[in-house]
Amino acid sequence: MQVVIAGSSAEVGRIAAAKVSQVIRKRADAVVGLATGSSPLSIYAQLSHQVREERLDCSSVRAFALDEYVGLPVGHPQSYRSVLERDVVEPLRLKRSNVHVPDGTAADVVSACAAFEQRLRDLGPVDIQILGIGRNGHIGFNEPTSSFASRTRIKTLAPKTRADNARFFSSPDEVPTHCLTQGLANILEATRLLLVAQGEKKADAVAKMVEGPLSSMCPASALQLHADVTVVIDDAAACKLTLSDYYRYTYQNLPEWQRFDAGPPPGGSSERGPGGASGTS
Ligand code: GLP
Repeated sequence: MQVVIAGSSAEVGRIAAAKVSQVIRKRADAVVGLATGSSPLSIYAQLSHQVREERLDCSSVRAFALDEYVGLPVGHPQSYRSVLERDVVEPLRLKRSNVHVPDGTAADVVSACAAFEQRLRDLGPVDIQILGIGRNGHIGFNEPTSSFASRTRIKTLAPKTRADNARFFSSPDEVPTHCLTQGLANILEATRLLLVAQGEKKADAVAKMVEGPLSSMCPASALQLHADVTVVIDDAAACKLTLSDYYRYTYQNLPEWQRFDAGPPPGGSSERGPGGASGTS
């Protein structure tokens, strides 16, 4: 697992976006796994900047959402389909028909999950899966005690997750109680995983994910089982890591050919690698 500790939240987005665009530049029709929530927004903003400047072409990119709320009507502004259209499809100029989201409006959720799994099998594997992390260590909507073998299915949202996501709704009661989510096994099947986290409120979950025991009590610890994981976090999210000095040291001494975060941020000073971010293992 490569742990990159960035000096700021904006720097998290810049470094993580460099990883995603590297994949898309190598394969124009790359399959990208999309996360919602606030954590990846800076990645999408950076990618959209590159698209606007015609340094990146996402018109052939295929994409899969990690999850979707159950029961929100089609077009609800907080359904993940709507959120992804606003935050990703339009700014990155993806084709809407290339973006696949579990159908949270389906009367038959079992069939909806099976159809989504089939599409993942047909178009996958996902080349790079973008992930955030919940305060309770969830990834996607795989709440604590989710099986490491789980696949796309309906889940009940933890009260803590509903409370955290209430900020996106006009009242806490409006947050759906259920969701459809890719399982931990689906996530582990992606070729590369890229997780971003910012802020001290994520520090406990990040420490358990990176350095804690492999446990379904912290679903994100499943990332320890994957051979190609990059975790990009800011100083605040890194503050509970025991080996943060080691991650910084390792990143500062990365061989040039292993670097993916080339180039200065648009309009900013060059903080490439050793200057701007640190840490790997
Ligand atoms: C949400 C999403 C996750 C996301 C997480 C953290 O509920 N289902 O994919 O990573 O919770 O959200 P945020 O980035 O807003 O903190």
